[in-house]
Order: sequence, then C-alpha cells, then structure tokens
Amino acid sequence: MRYLITSGKGLLGLEFIRQLKNAEVLSLDLPETDVCDLAALMERTVLFRPDVILHCAAWTDVDGCEDDPAKAYHVNSIGTRNVCLAAKEVGASLVYFSTDYVFDGVKNSPYQEYDPPAPLSVYGQTKLAGERIAAELCPKRYVIRTSWLFGLFGRNFVDAILRQAEEGKTISVVADQIGSPTYAKDLVQAVLALLRLPYSAYGTYHFSNSGACSWYDLAVAVIKKAGRRGKVIPVTTEAMRRPAPRPAYSVLSHELLQSLGIVPRPWQEALIDYLEELGFPQDRH
Ligand SMILES: NC(=O)c1ccc[n+]([C@@H]2O[C@H](COP(=O)([O-])OP(=O)(O)OC[C@H]3O[C@@H](n4cnc5c(N)ncnc54)[C@H](OP(=O)(O)O)[C@@H]3O)[C@@H](O)[C@H]2O)c1
Repeated sequence: MRYLITSGKGLLGLEFIRQLKNAEVLSLDLPETDVCDLAALMERTVLFRPDVILHCAAWTDVDGCEDDPAKAYHVNSIGTRNVCLAAKEVGASLVYFSTDYVFDGVKNSPYQEYDPPAPLSVYGQTKLAGERIAAELCPKRYVIRTSWLFGLFGRNFVDAILRQAEEGKTISVVADQIGSPTYAKDLVQAVLALLRLPYSAYGTYHFSNSGACSWYDLAVAVIKKAGRRGKVIPVTTEAMRRPAPRPAYSVLSHELLQSLGIVPRPWQEALIDYLEELGFPQDRH
C-alpha cells in the first residue's frame, strides 16, 4: 500500500508517519505543497500514485476560522475538493478527517453517525462542506469524525495544561462543554484497522476514546495523573468569551466502527498511556 498524507507535519499526520514507518509514504506539506494549489497537488499525486490519501491538512484554529471565514473555506473546503479530485484522478481511496464541531450540541446522548449535522462555528461549517464535497466527488471515501485530539506531535490541550501547571499557574478551564478526548495514537490505529479490513467499508464514522468529560474534568485528570500540583478552576463558556461558538455537548457514538470490530478504549486509559509516553510514571493498579 502506498499512502499519501496531506500535511505530515501536524499532530495527526505525524502520528500516521510514525505508525506507517514500514510502508511507502509521501507527505505533502506547506510551504512546498498547499492543498489550495490544485495543479501542484495533482502533479505530485499523479507522480506518486497512492492507494490511499490520508487528508490531514486543515486550518484547525477554530477561533481563527471564525475571524476569517474566507480563508477557512479556502483551506478546509476548497482544499478538500482539490484533494478529492486528486484522489479520483489516481483511483485512490480518501480518508477525510472531520470533527464533532459539525454538531450543534443540543443533544444529550452521544451523536450517531447519521444524526443531522448543524455546525455552530465557521470551522464546523467548513469541515461539513468538506464532508459534502467528498460525498459528491469520491465514492471511495472514509469520513472520520473525531474530537478533542491529543498526542505527541502537536499543540494540544493536555500539553497546554501540563505546561501551565509546570509554570505554577492557576488554570481556568471550561466546565460546561462535554465531549470525548481522543488519543491520536488510538485514532491512527483505528483508521489503519479500517483500511486493512478484507473488504472496503467506505462511509462516515466516528472515532474518539470512549466515555465523556468536560474540559475541566480532563484538566483535573491530567494534573492528577501527571502528579502535578496546579490549581484548576471551573469556568463557564460564557466567561471565556471566545470568538467561535462551541457545542455544549459533542460526545460521539462509535456504533459503526464497533460493528466492524473496532472498539475504542476509555479516554482515561488513553491518557495514562500518553502521560507514560511523555515520561510521567503511571501506577496502573
Ligand atoms: N485537533 C483536534 O482536536 C481535532 C478535532 C477534530 C477533528 N480534527 C481534524 O483532524 C485533522 C487533523 O488535525 P490536527 O489536529 O492534526 O491539526 P494540525 O496539527 O493543526 O495539523 C494540520 C496541518 O495542516 C497544515 N495546513 C494548514 N493549511 C494547509 C494548506 N493550505 N495546505 C497544506 N497543509 C496545510 C498545517 O500546517 P501549518 O501548521 O503550517 O499551518 C498543519 O501542519 C483535521 O482535519 C482536523 O480538522 C482535529
């Protein structure tokens, strides 16, 4: 299998590169390859002729997208269209990563794959547009919605809490948004398991670690399991006054992946594993 990754420099792309170290992989990154540049993307894709395109590139700054919708659509929607056209040209399967932010958060039970999306933010709207473009252009597509990603290779919430605790700061964290953290290592394992099934199971899936918590709960767990002494204060979304609205509840149900035998572990176990990888000793008993 030959894998092309759009942006192997982000959190998820780098985790794919780590786990695909024995496979043939090409990463297309900024500044050489912008997904918004169809001609360059097409040329490199046709030369490499991948079997699978792992489309990890995106503008993931949720508040930035709110402030600059034109750029957000350009990268997340039109960029995705370009990747779809390239995938179609070479007959590759496409894996497009989407987000829990396609949902409005008014539900109070886990969102199923077929629940109607209704994004609140520009970021969510541009990612949903990407889903729709992929559905229109790529019959050989997997859409993987994920949430609250953390991992070794990029800025993420867990690292931010550890850093602030290290600096002895009192940390204010939102307690009224509920979701599911996702360890990038687990997400990549799940996607590779999906791709390695003996049949093609194209479609839209949800993957996060199992269980639900607030950002505040997650911050408290990080500090406790890392053996740090930072003080965490729960605050409301309203008090944080951020430009982009976020869903109050965006827990993802994993029914479709589970039907294929791909079952996520609880977020607490994944967090322990991550902290161990970072060098924080964990007592697993
Ligand atoms: N992180 C999360 O919590 C989360 C949650 C749900 C879904 N997702 C989705 O998961 C996927 C991977 O996210 P991630 O956390 O790995 O994001 P990330 O760390 O921000 O990585 C995204 C990468 O895309 C690159 N990029 C931005 N614009 C580009 C362009 N025009 N052409 C080519 N590359 C470009 C970025 O480069 P620069 O850094 O140089 O801009 C960055 O390396 C995304 O589709 C995201 O929407 C993420």
